[in-house]
Amino acid sequence: MRESTIFDCLNIDLKQIQTLRGGITSVENINDFLFALKRVYYLYDIPGGEDRGGHAHKDLKQVIIAVSGSFDLIVDDGKAKKTFTLNSPSKAVQMPSGLWRELKNFSSGSVCLVLCSDMYNENDYIRNYQDFLNFKINKQ
Ligand code: TYD
Repeated sequence: MRESTIFDCLNIDLKQIQTLRGGITSVENINDFLFALKRVYYLYDIPGGEDRGGHAHKDLKQVIIAVSGSFDLIVDDGKAKKTFTLNSPSKAVQMPSGLWRELKNFSSGSVCLVLCSDMYNENDYIRNYQDFLNFKINKQ
């Protein structure tokens, strides 16, 4: 979505069930998010100081959760940036398509869970920042 802005990113509180044996958080297709989920992937074993992301998606919508540890999600609509610090397995950020994102400052052992509206498709990625800016002003 070319018109999306950083203000279209939503903080979502997920259900949290605390028991004496530990916590449980579940997410439900459609009930919890504005789109249906088709794919899940997770980032782990991220070396200290390493960044991830550094791309935008033309159509894919995503939900990002720090299921373990913490990291910063920096979203960018070509005009403004916003940083979300994710540090709880019961908090999520729902992202529309059409935003540049970076993932930085991963704590040791952190795991980033990503819930996606569609299957993996390399053609949906914009991996060059200038191409992203061109996409946002309808030049690409
Ligand atoms: P990429 O999305 O660029 O990683 P990140 O944004 O987390 O740094 O993906 C890294 C590599 O993994 C790239 O070669 C594509 C591949 N990949 C898949 O094959 N399937 C997937 O679902 C994802 C997310 C990535």
